[in-house]
Amino acid sequence: MAKKTLVLRHPILLLLLYTLFLFHQSTAAKLSIGINYGTVADNLPPPSQVANFIKSQTTIDKIKIFDANPNILRAFANSDVSVTVAVANADIPAVAKLPAAQSWVVNNILPFYAQTKIHRIAVGNEVIATSDKTLIAHLLPAMKSIYSALKVAGITNIEVSSPHSMGILSTSDPPSSGRFRHGYDKIIFAPILDFHRQTKTPFMVSPYPFFGFTDKTLNYALFKPNGGVFDETTGLNYTNMFDAQLDAVYSAMNRLGYGDVDIVVAESGWPSAGDPGQPGVSMDNAASYNGNLIRHVNSGKGTPLMPNRTFETYVFALFNEDLKPSNSERNFGLFRPDFSPVYDVGILRNAQSIAPGPANPTAPSPSNPDKKWCVPKQDASDEELQANLNFACNSGVDCTPIQSNGPCFEPNTVRSHASFAMNAYYQANDRNDYDCDFTNTGVVTMTDPSYKNCKYVV
Ligand SMILES: *[C@@H]1O[C@H](CO)[C@@H](O)[C@H](O)[C@H]1NC(C)=O
Ligand SMILES: *[C@@H]1O[C@H](CO)[C@@H](O)[C@H](O)[C@H]1NC(C)=O
Repeated sequence: MAKKTLVLRHPILLLLLYTLFLFHQSTAAKLSIGINYGTVADNLPPPSQVANFIKSQTTIDKIKIFDANPNILRAFANSDVSVTVAVANADIPAVAKLPAAQSWVVNNILPFYAQTKIHRIAVGNEVIATSDKTLIAHLLPAMKSIYSALKVAGITNIEVSSPHSMGILSTSDPPSSGRFRHGYDKIIFAPILDFHRQTKTPFMVSPYPFFGFTDKTLNYALFKPNGGVFDETTGLNYTNMFDAQLDAVYSAMNRLGYGDVDIVVAESGWPSAGDPGQPGVSMDNAASYNGNLIRHVNSGKGTPLMPNRTFETYVFALFNEDLKPSNSERNFGLFRPDFSPVYDVGILRNAQSIAPGPANPTAPSPSNPDKKWCVPKQDASDEELQANLNFACNSGVDCTPIQSNGPCFEPNTVRSHASFAMNAYYQANDRNDYDCDFTNTGVVTMTDPSYKNCKYVV
């Protein structure tokens, strides 16, 4: 009998596997991501054009704005793009009282809800970082009265939260030691987290490895091959700084008993240009950070302390904003005001239409863009290639062909094994040029490196 069911189930199993395969194919091609649509600029296109661009040209399915600009809210009406709107910091003390919160909802939400998918209201932005005692004291009361005002208006599907900078932590390294700033933990954060638990809404934080890296940790910050950081307390190994920052936040929440509250990544990004010689700032690094970030949060892997958890994530930012105070701040955008991509992070619907920018200096102009491989550069050292090999094989690609009985084991050299693994990583990540960068030790080729029975993934 057991045998019979097995036979019967076989085709169903195959069908299931095939469906999973198709699902994987379609999700691999379509990375969903949120974006911060900041408007500190005097040269941005009108919101209606921005909405059309996002809807028709990109896979962005959520935006977050820093106010409740009616033109933006109107522009996104009748679209599937969900919107997080914000209450300005300056309005927090006022909306802490219910009548003002009700007026705020009536004036800023009701005219656009529900034609515009307003999904969340961010009450203030990085309020703790202002060190303004009045604002800080009124934050939770403001969140609560906005929540009540929505209820009074009969709206139950708009979440209320507030984005925080990493400065809310006094300790974050190693991640397991994460704790909120002394004096704020029990008095400010525990009640805020309690509000989130009760209302089933997320705690919003903005991890920025860009503001945390040093000479030694640049690759770790960029999700590039690196030696990893070991947390002795948990025995967990971190391969990127983004995970470490999120886990530090989680540790702080967990310490107060709120490890179950969801986390949303309100902002994260990397500038593509800055002051001359500014460390870590380049087009390649921005493409690498944001490309890897988008893939990482779409992978469903979670972090070492939060395995398999997903984090709604908003990249900073949609546009380069020319009125920001510093050179690097003006260059966090994925797009220029004329909608041309500053670099490719894999969120354009029709990737072939992108002109290769300066981010892809090693990219050949492909006659058949479907057939490209990644191999080591001639001058890459064995030490560098060993690091690439470890990194690629630890990232989940299939490295069994280079193991001792595999068809790609011979020649048994670091260079040959690294070549196979680097290519497998590049292919698994949709052949983005920056996935063959490997800290400037990999190069894209149009020549199939396969030999004898060793077939390179393509
Ligand atoms: C941590 O991960 C890095 C990168 O994959 C690896 O090189 C290192 O050996 C690992 N360390 C430990 C202690 O597992
Ligand atoms: C995460 O997912 C993997 C693969 O599906 C599974 O093996 C693992 O047990 C999961 N871990 C947790 C903590 O759920």
